[in-house]
Amino acid sequence: MTRHYLMCRPDHFAVEYAINPWMDPEAGADREAAVRQWETLKRTYEELGHRVSLIDPLEGLPDMVFAANGALVVGGRVYGARFTHPQRAAEGPAYLEWFTSNGYDRALEATFTNEGEGDFLTLDRLILAGTGFRTDVTAHREAQEFLGRAVVTLHLVDPRFYHLDTALFPLNGHNVAYFPGAFSPSSQEVLRNLFPDAVIASEDDAAVLGLNAVSDGRNVVINAEAAGLQLELKRQGFEVIPVDLSELRKAGGGPKCCTLEIRD
Ligand code: ARG
Repeated sequence: MTRHYLMCRPDHFAVEYAINPWMDPEAGADREAAVRQWETLKRTYEELGHRVSLIDPLEGLPDMVFAANGALVVGGRVYGARFTHPQRAAEGPAYLEWFTSNGYDRALEATFTNEGEGDFLTLDRLILAGTGFRTDVTAHREAQEFLGRAVVTLHLVDPRFYHLDTALFPLNGHNVAYFPGAFSPSSQEVLRNLFPDAVIASEDDAAVLGLNAVSDGRNVVINAEAAGLQLELKRQGFEVIPVDLSELRKAGGGPKCCTLEIRD
């Protein structure tokens, strides 16, 4: 099925502050390499037949490439992001403005802190929502009320996996892959109950952000280093498309972080 993704070219990408354990401002990052890797990701989606829209990158917002954090769009309704850290605060209004000026008039400026699809992952009948590091649980309720789809709260406990999309991804509308160690014991139980057939990822695969993957239900675009997880996905009949986003990982992001899905 054809997907519609919103992306932001990393023209101003840099690692100049540290708001997650992946970021080391001393070491920095190579912007040109990041742009090349991002271009390959964009081309990968286009070659799969997906539609990619672009939002203009803004100077002074080095993390704006991580479009997933910009909003949550379900059924044409746009739930705007409200960032945890002041360094990224201006991205929320910028993404919301993109949507309103592109004809999405059912858009909500969130009251509560939430980082869009970084912490909200949409399946056919429910939305999985992370909390613990960024998104506030009050935003889970606000999103459910606005979008009319059940939101299930999951507690993240490992700072390396500070967004839900670093620890779990939907394989299709009804199943997921995840790394159990990123979740509290009770949330692990919730996941086991909801998804008895889930693909369980190892810590090694999670530690290269292998779970920050994008599936269209058939093709999975995934960090190249996540070898074990790729093998398991192939075994389960998925087409696996490895990409190298090592430069963006220096900011704590992978393929999914660069990709905001627009569900009309
Ligand atoms: N440096 C960014 C931050 O910490 C990375 C965001 C990654 N995005 C994501 N969807 N996980 O906010």
